[in-house]
Amino acid sequence: HDYPWDIYSLKELLHATNSFHDDNKIGEGGFGSVYWGRTSKGVEIAVKRLKAMSAKAEMEFAVEVEILGRVRHENLLSLRGFYAGGDERLIVYDYMPNHSLMTHLHGQMSNDLLLDWPRRMNVIIGSAEGVAYLHHEANPHIIHRDIKASNVLLDSNFRAKVADFGFAKLIPDGVSHLTTRVKGTLGYLAPEYAMWGKVSESCDVYSFGILLLEIVSARKPIQKLPDGLKRDIVQWVTPHVLNGEYDKIADPKLKGKVDGAQLRAVVTVALRCVNGDPEKRPRMEEVVQWLKGGILAGERRNKEIAAAAAKVEDEEDDETDYERFGTGEFELGSSKHGAKIR
Ligand SMILES: Nc1ncnc2c1ncn2[C@@H]1O[C@H](COP(=O)(O)OP(=O)(O)O)[C@@H](O)[C@H]1O
Ligand SMILES: [Mg+2]
Repeated sequence: HDYPWDIYSLKELLHATNSFHDDNKIGEGGFGSVYWGRTSKGVEIAVKRLKAMSAKAEMEFAVEVEILGRVRHENLLSLRGFYAGGDERLIVYDYMPNHSLMTHLHGQMSNDLLLDWPRRMNVIIGSAEGVAYLHHEANPHIIHRDIKASNVLLDSNFRAKVADFGFAKLIPDGVSHLTTRVKGTLGYLAPEYAMWGKVSESCDVYSFGILLLEIVSARKPIQKLPDGLKRDIVQWVTPHVLNGEYDKIADPKLKGKVDGAQLRAVVTVALRCVNGDPEKRPRMEEVVQWLKGGILAGERRNKEIAAAAAKVEDEEDDETDYERFGTGEFELGSSKHGAKIR
């Protein structure tokens, strides 16, 4: 057949996941549980299993399969196939060995620091490209409606794969916005959507802006303060930006191994994305361009600094000042991770 996915048999998926054994469970969402499995051909898969059959759940299943079947992009999670029969609705995906951004920013793995600064920058560009593809290249256009940390998965190379299309909407040509029931996650919802159910691409842009702030700071979109009040990430970041205190924005776990110029570029783009007026938010295409401009310029500059530092080292080597080895001075410029922020 010429479509890129398969229809699985229940037997095969039961076998792959050890009959949906609890030990195989890797995720839990509103829609169902996700299980790790291995097919008879030895391929690792993730299987999403609908919790309980209801009209709403059936709808989410249909939407997700329909939309995932249409899209192909290196920054979108690929559909491998599905099973629908009796009371079972199962969706089969490629298995993402590095889980979701949630795990690395707030979860069990956040102390391992696998998500260093350069990886975060790659995830930012990749996820922006995935969403831009949905908005501008997919036909009809697709609004995701649930962009958030737990819905951005990471493959073996820590490349971003936007996932979870259960709330997505197909937008027919010529339609600028729809009014729908509000779905999605508190903290990521654009105000016009949360209040009036107005959905357009700019709702995803808003959520993406929140996600950008979350990736660089490792703070949750809504933070509970000790006095019981809540503060959102935009309220938290704004005074730091106004005071030019970008070092206070970066995830403290990175211990300053952050590129200051890239951080500034990402935060600037994020604040444009979360503009209260949907008309004033950028389109995802622009977001991709700005991010690439800001992040890649930072990378180029770091290479130049590293090259200049190497040259200085060479010149100093001529005088063979052996005592200075091992003192850490030769790590100056820390070319791999970029200059520290001042
Ligand atoms: N392909 C996959 N590989 C690895 N983990 C996955 C995969 N798909 C989902 N997960 C895990 O399961 C969680 C829930 O999956 P998701 O598709 O977001 O379902 P829901 O609609 O229930 O939110 C994700 O946040 C992630 O931790
Ligand atoms: Mg999810």
